[in-house]
Amino acid sequence: MSNGTPKRIIIDTDPGVDDSMAILLAFNSPELQIEGLTTVFGNTGVDITTKNALRLVELAGKPVPVAAGAGKPLLRPYTGEGWKVHGRNGLGEVPFPEPKGMPDKRHAAQFIIDLVMANPGEITLIPIGPLTNIALAVSLEPRIAENVKEVVLMGGAAMNPGNASPVAEANIHNDPEAAHIVFHAGWPVTMVGLDVTHKTEIDSAYMEQLKAAHNRFTDFIYAISQHYMNLYRQRGIDGMPVHDSSAVAYVIDPTLFQTKKAYVDVEYQSSFHHGQTVADWRGQRKLEPNVNVCVDVDSPRFLDLYRKRLTEPML
Ligand code: RIB
Ligand code: CA
Repeated sequence: MSNGTPKRIIIDTDPGVDDSMAILLAFNSPELQIEGLTTVFGNTGVDITTKNALRLVELAGKPVPVAAGAGKPLLRPYTGEGWKVHGRNGLGEVPFPEPKGMPDKRHAAQFIIDLVMANPGEITLIPIGPLTNIALAVSLEPRIAENVKEVVLMGGAAMNPGNASPVAEANIHNDPEAAHIVFHAGWPVTMVGLDVTHKTEIDSAYMEQLKAAHNRFTDFIYAISQHYMNLYRQRGIDGMPVHDSSAVAYVIDPTLFQTKKAYVDVEYQSSFHHGQTVADWRGQRKLEPNVNVCVDVDSPRFLDLYRKRLTEPML
């Protein structure tokens, strides 16, 4: 999967139940070195996602900096309803003590700029929430577009319906203007969208396998995921889609996914279809492809990887 040198990453996140599962996968994967967590509004408010990121760093016991970012979209009011899925506290309504740590003094966008510009070609950005911080960073310092290693984002839907609207995936829907900036900034973007994240599901049997490991990570994941799993159970579905961990898994082992390059545009002007990611598969717009789109995934191999990393943790 890798040449032995860990990939240096920043995860931009709105933890969030599946964000937490993704961040704990990253902490327990030798292929990755987390240089920072930057937080954004989305599944709940940025004050809470920042505290949750600090809690995850403390759970991992690693001195990873957390930098707080945007509390709302670039231009529009925040009307997201992620808290209905993730709980008001973003962690499935499970009570946790206040984190001990404090966030970095810098805004998330400045933190990203400083780290990328100090380490040209080294840093992979893994946004798994609305793209507001990423858009702010590349607008403030456009040179990060040629100094970042790549951007691997959880978001979008190229060939499937949306989850936040009939056409839009939640992260893109939450800030379509930011997404438009990110998709057109000229850096290498891989889109890990609903086309693949809806193909991998964690069901209750799998969750019991995690629980049986009884380590601090699987206990945490089991506890915070019950609220999310119960919501799906009420709809007659045993399982939760694996959204954010899919983006982390792509960086760990891209061979888990099949990808296709395409010109992808983000709709932000439509009142009903804002947040739609439109892939021009047949090149009809005669524009150079700007996105590497994940179109398929080896879900069994991905779930095996996830289970192994969390039940046999490194930390
Ligand atoms: O559409 C799924 C995405 O929206 C995930 O990042 C989840 O955490 C929510 O933010
Ligand atoms: Ca997320």
